Amino acid sequence: MTAQRSPNPFNPGSPVDPNDFVGRVSELENFKQKLMQTANGSLANMAVAGGYGVGKTSFLHKCKALAEESNALAIYFSLNEIDELSKERLAAFLIRRIKEKVREEMILERISNEIFKVIQRIKIKTEKIELSLDEEDENTFPNLQTALVAAWKTLKGTKKAIVFLLDEARVLERNRAELLLYLRAVLEHLQIEHIPVMILPAGKLTITGPTGTGFSPLVRTFQPALLENFSREEANAFITKKLNQAGVEIELIAFEKIYNATEGHPFVLTAYMNSAYSRLLPEEKKLTQAHFKATDVDFVKADLAPFFARFYDQTGRNSRKILSVMANFPREEISFSELAKKLAFEMNELSPHLGKLVQDGSIIRIDRGKYKLFHHLLGEYIKSRQQKNNSEA
Ligand SMILES: Nc1ncnc2c1ncn2[C@@H]1O[C@H](COP(=O)(O)OP(=O)(O)OP(=O)(O)O)[C@@H](O)[C@H]1O
Ligand SMILES: [Mg+2]
Repeated sequence: MTAQRSPNPFNPGSPVDPNDFVGRVSELENFKQKLMQTANGSLANMAVAGGYGVGKTSFLHKCKALAEESNALAIYFSLNEIDELSKERLAAFLIRRIKEKVREEMILERISNEIFKVIQRIKIKTEKIELSLDEEDENTFPNLQTALVAAWKTLKGTKKAIVFLLDEARVLERNRAELLLYLRAVLEHLQIEHIPVMILPAGKLTITGPTGTGFSPLVRTFQPALLENFSREEANAFITKKLNQAGVEIELIAFEKIYNATEGHPFVLTAYMNSAYSRLLPEEKKLTQAHFKATDVDFVKADLAPFFARFYDQTGRNSRKILSVMANFPREEISFSELAKKLAFEMNELSPHLGKLVQDGSIIRIDRGKYKLFHHLLGEYIKSRQQKNNSEA
């Protein structure tokens, strides 16, 4: 009888298990340092910025695991979970998630029932509560910072800090970063009493913009760690770790091919490996060049289409035109003036479109006035879409 092959260890759709997390050494070091500073009562926060599929959620999950190892109350959630996000809703949600987390910890017997009961009573005063006077008591607090102080006073014998990991945090930058400024103000209030609360927003944030672009005071509070593609070493560590677990070997020469194809983009790399792994025959125990060649045939059209559609199919007509020119241009980079000429656009017409594409993450500004697609396979994808459209027309 032959042993069953392990299930495919490459899951492009889900964040990586913290135990399988690879790389990002300096960013994690940065987080650990901030966590220690927070626990010691200083104001220390950070933000995580990066494009689609670069590993932001995985990073937050890893930070959560590290925070829990350090005995912090670590709370992860995505801001997508809150409809019509406002200061009041955000404040109420943060307190609600503390309560839920404390309940979980109480069930696991890491937090006592007494603490649990006190925490459950904490409320933030809202207009609604003001109407029913009988509901208001010493557990009703005028705002988020006072509610957090109360939560901390209850937890401090048991926990080292409270850490919020906020995913999909780009919404915090709406209206000139109104909600980020609000969170910063709350953190500054807490700092006066050395209340160890840390907030780590992650998303396609623009606070990484060069200083002087209006966000500089925020950059100081939420110092951004910018996640980029894996280096070759990180990509190789990723591949080796997952394949070892599955008991599958890999031809050495394949590493080069994999990196060239994926550029170490975490999502693209995971999808590529997933596809190659799925091509192993039941009796095969080693991934070879042949598996990757077979993957190449329809990787972009089949595996990456759902990922790339957001950049191309789901964008506006002008954006598509620009992306098409870039995909079909003989060089990887294209200058602003070359683009304007090819498109017969006025210079001042082109700028805002390019700005939007950079924000969407589909193109990268390499240098003043020079641009490239964020991934060469996006170019392949766009060409394949055009071929399809042409043959249908
Ligand atoms: N450090 C890492 N170690 C191992 N795998 C990783 C790492 N970072 C990301 N991945 C893998 O890459 C893929 C994308 O990661 P993830 O979902 O965390 O990215 P994201 O930036 O949150 O994406 P999105 O923009 O869609 O929210 C997942 O399959 C994940 O398992
Ligand atoms: Mg994510």
